[in-house]
Amino acid sequence: MSLHHLLLALGTSAGLSLGQDHQARMGEPVPGLTAAEADLFDAGALAFAAGLTIPEGLGPIMNDVSCGACHNIPALGGWGPNTVIRFGRSAQAGQPFDTLDLLGGSLLQEQAIDPACAETIPAQADVTSERLAPICFGAGLLEAIPEAALAQNEAVQASLGLAGYRRMFTPLEGGPAGASRFGWKGGPSTVMSFSIDAANMEMGLTSVFMPDDQAPNGDQAQLALCDNVADPEDAPDAQGYTRVDRITHFQAMLAAPPQTPRSGTMGEGVFAAVGCADCHTPTYTTGPHAIGALSGVEIHPYSDFLIHDMGSGGDGIADGPVSETQHLTRALWGLSLRTSMMHDGSITGGSFDQLVHDAILAHGGEATASQAAYLALSPSDQGALRKFLRSLGQAEFDLSDDDHDVDEYDWFFCFQQFNGPVPTAPHGPDSVGALCDLDQDGDFDLVEFGAFQRAFTGQ
Ligand code: HEC
Ligand code: HEC
Repeated sequence: MSLHHLLLALGTSAGLSLGQDHQARMGEPVPGLTAAEADLFDAGALAFAAGLTIPEGLGPIMNDVSCGACHNIPALGGWGPNTVIRFGRSAQAGQPFDTLDLLGGSLLQEQAIDPACAETIPAQADVTSERLAPICFGAGLLEAIPEAALAQNEAVQASLGLAGYRRMFTPLEGGPAGASRFGWKGGPSTVMSFSIDAANMEMGLTSVFMPDDQAPNGDQAQLALCDNVADPEDAPDAQGYTRVDRITHFQAMLAAPPQTPRSGTMGEGVFAAVGCADCHTPTYTTGPHAIGALSGVEIHPYSDFLIHDMGSGGDGIADGPVSETQHLTRALWGLSLRTSMMHDGSITGGSFDQLVHDAILAHGGEATASQAAYLALSPSDQGALRKFLRSLGQAEFDLSDDDHDVDEYDWFFCFQQFNGPVPTAPHGPDSVGALCDLDQDGDFDLVEFGAFQRAFTGQ
């Protein structure tokens, strides 16, 4: 009997209660959706991946043709190394930073449906900054964090020696103002608002909520020359949903990235001890949400969702109340598969271990004390901290080749860790076998067997 068949047979054999499930892998929906919600998730994924056409409203100026073009690693909705460019004019001669709105700032649209309408970086700009695309996994769960929890984060800043603040937004689709949970400088606070904005700014899709196309370098006459589709371009489909509705459904129902082992690594203690967790706040319980599966869920995004001064780590671009040196604390969940880090992706090349070390070195401003505390650690404590960061985004059971896939090889490697000729003991959150020990009880038994069977990717 092949392993595949053995697993199937065991999983379906009568009376076996196989208990706990594996965590969703990146790109999968949150567990517990209704059938109707799961259908909306699937339809939303298609809309997120589909290239917008010119008759549907693409451009006239844009950065790409679909959300999925930039958000796709390791699965649809993921991160992407393709950066977009922000530009502006630095503060000088008593004048504040100028986002050059009248000249098409601060976001550059690098592509156009007609070269006659192309946007360029204006001569007045003396600062540019690249931004990479973060993951959208768990976006609905972030939206469901109670506002009171973020207000509480803000309230304790002084006691931590920090000065973080909430960046408030009133959702474009209506509803109460809330703190930003997305974007490198803090963008719109709901998944729907972020989608409305991204559809308009990155693809040129106008909607009832943002009915005007971006004019190339602010030139309305040139826009009129190239824009042949009446606004708002985003229209309801046969089921009554617009494209923005569809892509919102998809992102809102994307599961949180996994974290393996789920808790207890030595490195997480070090992370807290040196003050990383003062900004990268580990845990929240979500409040009520229209999607039942997003309500009352414990999540571990590792962010306070406050704007902090990063000193020399800042991007040089002011954005509303957020100064040239300030950024929103980046949620660290899902970090493990990143090959470039920080807002501009400038921390790149080398192993994951090297990347996170360099990312810590790139912190400044309010994070200086925490950075110094990290640098003062023993090499082994530093290593433990980085190993903890590696657990953020790590899929359970993916031991053999770390390919974000769970297959026969993972089974053999996991099994051997616990039951091989020379079992490697003792087992705990810091041992190699921790990736396989789903319920963290030190063995690899029927609980893991059942969960593995359900996680098994198959060929
Ligand atoms: C050209 C590449 C590109 C395209 C196309 C694109 N994005 Fe993004 N996305 C980015 C970048 C870059 C950021 C970071 C923006 C910032 O903070 O300045 C981002 C940020 C986001 C975030 C915030 C995630 C977080 O946790 O901070 C969401 C949500 C998102 N995009 C959704 C979308 C949706 C929905 C679409 C399609 C309508 C889309 N994006 C199209 C590049 C892109
Ligand atoms: C004062 C608040 C603060 C503290 C303290 C802090 N960080 Fe951060 N961290 C941030 C902000 C803000 C960003 C986003 C920077 C940017 O936009 O480029 C960030 C980004 C990161 C990133 C890059 C994430 C990515 O997606 O590219 C890593 C890794 C990270 N922090 C780890 C740490 C570690 C480890 C510590 C402790 C040694 C720490 N941080 C302490 C605020 C903080």
